Amino acid sequence: MDWTQKVVDSRVEDGSRHQRYPAGSPNEAEIKQYARYLPKRCEIGVVMGMTPELRNIAVQHCDLLVSIDCSAASIETYKDWLDPAFRSKEQIIHGDWNDLEAFLDKKPGFIVGDGIFGNIHPLENYMPLLHSIRLMLDNGGSFITRQCLMPEEVVSDNQWSRSTLLQAFRSGKIDEAEFGLSMRLQGYVNQAYDQKSALLDNKKVFACIESDHQEGLLSKREYEIIHRYFFQGINTIPTRSQWEGALKQSDFFYESHAIKGKQWYAWYPVYHCKASIE
Ligand SMILES: C[S@@+](CC[C@H](N)C(=O)[O-])C[C@H]1O[C@@H](n2cnc3c(N)ncnc32)[C@H](O)[C@@H]1O
Repeated sequence: MDWTQKVVDSRVEDGSRHQRYPAGSPNEAEIKQYARYLPKRCEIGVVMGMTPELRNIAVQHCDLLVSIDCSAASIETYKDWLDPAFRSKEQIIHGDWNDLEAFLDKKPGFIVGDGIFGNIHPLENYMPLLHSIRLMLDNGGSFITRQCLMPEEVVSDNQWSRSTLLQAFRSGKIDEAEFGLSMRLQGYVNQAYDQKSALLDNKKVFACIESDHQEGLLSKREYEIIHRYFFQGINTIPTRSQWEGALKQSDFFYESHAIKGKQWYAWYPVYHCKASIE
């Protein structure tokens, strides 16, 4: 199980105020983007994962919200982060997204999640899950997700490394959230990312971060900021063409409007996918 209590806790900035670190979690601007794509109202809505920021907006667009997550730690930590006024409308399922069809008696009006497909590996496993989501939504429903992409310039430029990002952070060009998440996902591509399979080995990433800190290349503050995005599992991070190719192959029509203001918006966009055009 990749989503351990330690991994879940590292993302929480202030538990008593239900606040998490941005970039790893969707911020207000990104939630607005999700809300733009949600249908006004429907009977059933699905959230893949326990992302509290998303559940709190999604629940206002449906009569019943079904939230599905395979991590007991995520469920335990976030189950009470839904506004109490909406809790009676939510059903939480401790289960695997690959069994999606078994959890739903009726087709939902939407299925949403935040960074779902980063958790699906290898890349070949994208198709069966995309196919099952599409099947559930062939009544005109929407699939909405932030999808983490590997920027082409990061993989094509073999000089790309932590020093590019460290320089940007130390000169004030990027903020803590921009620095922390991109160091984990892009800072160590040469050591931990396989371009062909699109797999990032986070064990390798954090081993590099550990030794960089020991050697004094990363300050204590920089080390702590990156650990807000701590993970030890494998992520699939496709390029834009790999991801959009998979959407097309699954017969999804998609749109994604780039918003401005944060460095990660360009490579972690919100996608709105539909099984057919109205
Ligand atoms: C949706 S992802 C992305 C995290 C997101 N940015 C956040 O912090 O809210 C993380 C969640 O997905 C869950 N997850 C990963 N793979 C899963 C699967 N195959 N079935 C169900 N839940 C899964 C994990 O347990 C974890 O709680």
